[in-house]
Amino acid sequence: MPPLLDTRAAGRLALSATPGSTVFAGGRRVATAGFNQAYLGPTILMQNGDLAAEVQNNLDEPISTHWHGLLVPGEHDGGPHLPIAPGATWQPEMSIAQDPATAWYHSHIHERTAQQVYFGLAGVIHVTDGQDDARGLPSTYGIDDLTLVLQDRRFDASGRMVYNPSMMDMMHGFTGNRMLVNGQVGATAVVPQGIVRLRLLNGSNSRIYTLFFDDIRPMHLVATDGGFLPAPVVLDVLRLAPGERAEVLVDFSSGGAPVLMSDPDQAYGVLQFEVDTALARRITRLPEQLDGAPADLSGAEIATRQVSLDMGMGGMMMGGGGFAINGRPFDMDRIDFEVARGTVERWQIRSTMIAHPFHVHGIRFRVITENGSPPRPENTGWKDTVLVPGEAEILARFDQPASRETPFMFHCHILEHEDAGMMAQFTVT
Ligand code: C2O
Ligand code: CU
Ligand code: CU
Repeated sequence: MPPLLDTRAAGRLALSATPGSTVFAGGRRVATAGFNQAYLGPTILMQNGDLAAEVQNNLDEPISTHWHGLLVPGEHDGGPHLPIAPGATWQPEMSIAQDPATAWYHSHIHERTAQQVYFGLAGVIHVTDGQDDARGLPSTYGIDDLTLVLQDRRFDASGRMVYNPSMMDMMHGFTGNRMLVNGQVGATAVVPQGIVRLRLLNGSNSRIYTLFFDDIRPMHLVATDGGFLPAPVVLDVLRLAPGERAEVLVDFSSGGAPVLMSDPDQAYGVLQFEVDTALARRITRLPEQLDGAPADLSGAEIATRQVSLDMGMGGMMMGGGGFAINGRPFDMDRIDFEVARGTVERWQIRSTMIAHPFHVHGIRFRVITENGSPPRPENTGWKDTVLVPGEAEILARFDQPASRETPFMFHCHILEHEDAGMMAQFTVT
């Protein structure tokens, strides 16, 4: 597990982006970057209330620290308008007020996000209310509550981790040839012989996972990006696109050594599990209900907007690979939408050429339809990122303010697409 950074007692959070080097199993030492460590960052545990954060940049290039999934104003959001210069420190005085959720943080410098996240500038956030015992959910960090950052990385013939996207990689997103889980190759997750909670983050630049266990044991989905579901939903396969999180419960009481795999058609291993009967098993039954009750926003919308995620011929005349939203590549100086604070809007999103994972800052949303049908089980709860194979409609209330100086982003979470211009921005006033 990444180290746990518990901010609850002091209400303070100190991160420092640092250069480092990492030897991934069997490979060669490569330059990486992380928060407080050489690759990735600690898992930040936070609760509602004031949080005085401090992010120091010890790298020799600007970074930012975006809190993906935290509902905070634009000035605290850490997007591309809030760069931290080399040697500088950013100190957002935040106030956390949201349902428990698994969120994450990562650098978000325009045109550099893909590279900076790839080499390590990301980590996980747990927003907790301390009520998981009452919910009957496992919550012992690293024992029965595992945080798993899934990333694929490309290693060359000499075992060096490389990032060198070709034109094809730009079009489809850069994918790797090895799996890393929490920055490790070939690790094993040792779990107690009971119910275990897996907090899965797809922290990959572009790979979409279709997760399943090799012995077909079910996963019980309890939370999506923005919080708990009303009750667990049993799944044999779980689709997880870049930027998405899912919390699932898995029953290991029958023992065994199952492997979490991806892609039933062309299966590859993601993570080996191993049951250790010496580990304390605290939870042995699945909860029947959770207290998550995603609001029904339907009918409350005052505006409908169209969002077209463009690439290829459609936007080719714009230059590059035609990466754009509504025909226009990202421009830091252009506000694309102006949303009235406190109102509900319906956004109709359309993907071109391939399925794009669509993310919006500053809100959590409900998925109303996917290709005209009700959403898949994975998309029935609160979301901030959704894979859009063709079309999707979402509803959200825009409560957090964002000014022209620090607007919120909406973009494709394939990081190569985002950097190339499939991103736009909006104010909330
Ligand atoms: Cu996780 Cu704008 O990003
Ligand atoms: Cu975000
Ligand atoms: Cu995309």
